[in-house]
Amino acid sequence: MRLVTASQTIALDTQAKALLAAGHDVINLSVGELDFDPPTVVQQAVSQAVGNASNHYSPVAGLQASKQAVCAYEQAQHGVTYLPEQVLITNGAKQALYTTFLALVQPGDEVLVLQPAWVSYIEQIKLAGGVPVSVETTDQFSLDITAMERAMTDRTVGLILNYPNNPTGAVYTAALLQNVAQLAQEKKLWVISDEIYEHIIYGDVPFISFAKLYPHTVVVNGISKAAAVTGWRVGYAAGPVAIIQAMTALQSHLTGNVSNVMQAALPPALSNGLAADWLQQLQLRRQLVLDWVVQHPAVQLVSPQGAFYCFLDIRAFKMDSVTFCQRLLTDHHVALVPGSYFGRDGFVRLSFANSPDRIRVALERMDQFCAILSQ
Ligand SMILES: Cc1ncc(COP(=O)(O)O)c(C=O)c1O
Repeated sequence: MRLVTASQTIALDTQAKALLAAGHDVINLSVGELDFDPPTVVQQAVSQAVGNASNHYSPVAGLQASKQAVCAYEQAQHGVTYLPEQVLITNGAKQALYTTFLALVQPGDEVLVLQPAWVSYIEQIKLAGGVPVSVETTDQFSLDITAMERAMTDRTVGLILNYPNNPTGAVYTAALLQNVAQLAQEKKLWVISDEIYEHIIYGDVPFISFAKLYPHTVVVNGISKAAAVTGWRVGYAAGPVAIIQAMTALQSHLTGNVSNVMQAALPPALSNGLAADWLQQLQLRRQLVLDWVVQHPAVQLVSPQGAFYCFLDIRAFKMDSVTFCQRLLTDHHVALVPGSYFGRDGFVRLSFANSPDRIRVALERMDQFCAILSQ
């Protein structure tokens, strides 16, 4: 346990909430969740499930209806064919990822993590007994195939991909993903593809599920982000039968089945996708931050092509990202996440999953903070 760090993004969110509880007008742009209400059909499905004798244990890998909904969705959306026995319903994508690492990693096995990266990959790989190996992405946060190749040893068993990316918003082209698939094939690697932000794309690079390109892929996904139900904890993993069976055996001891009531949200959430007006609203919010950056030459940004984060480059202020975020939170009551939590100091992550009015006020406060720092 000494090797494992508690989730720092959750710790920061807790600190922001404590300031809020103490009566301060904190604007929390640190959280990775949409502020919308879940779609009505999704809410109704859950309400109905409560009254439907759903109080008993159910199959560990998930209700048949849930697994079939995942198969139908993956086929229709990505053109990838899965049988129900290739699907495991989990308590969110987070648990799907951890169970995947537990199933794939032997003590000492190395897994490549592309930096900057979402906070839990490294800790989960360590918890599974593996060794996370960091590989830097390019200046534009794109994939550096040569760096990936260089980082591989005879202990490398896997690679974790995440696009649209948290925290950078990067989305990779088909050509680049083909190169990764080729490399993975040559080195006989497992690829774990975290596709949780697949619906949230702004640019013209389309989303391609990695399973479409490479058979030895475990796809991890869920409904947290697209249906705005982060607290309901429903996700899934899909991949080769042997891996899903091993993961199901693990889940049988770790958690049992995912709540039957919450699984009822999965079929309507998957078929609903992301509401078109949600994407428009996110686009508008993203634009507020892009416009703000243009007015602040000290802050640089590679425009996010997906997800709902801006990974702001604050290196010009010559201040580490933790100090920057702490001062911004304490003195100006705006919560952002230090880039060092994602493996890249000198950057901060701003989540624009908040109302335009609140984002505007937060940016005004950041104006003041940047003015003080520039003095
Ligand atoms: C990249 C990434 N993967 C996985 C998750 C976890 O998703 P879930 O709520 O389904 O566990 C998150 C949540 O922030 C995330 O950003």
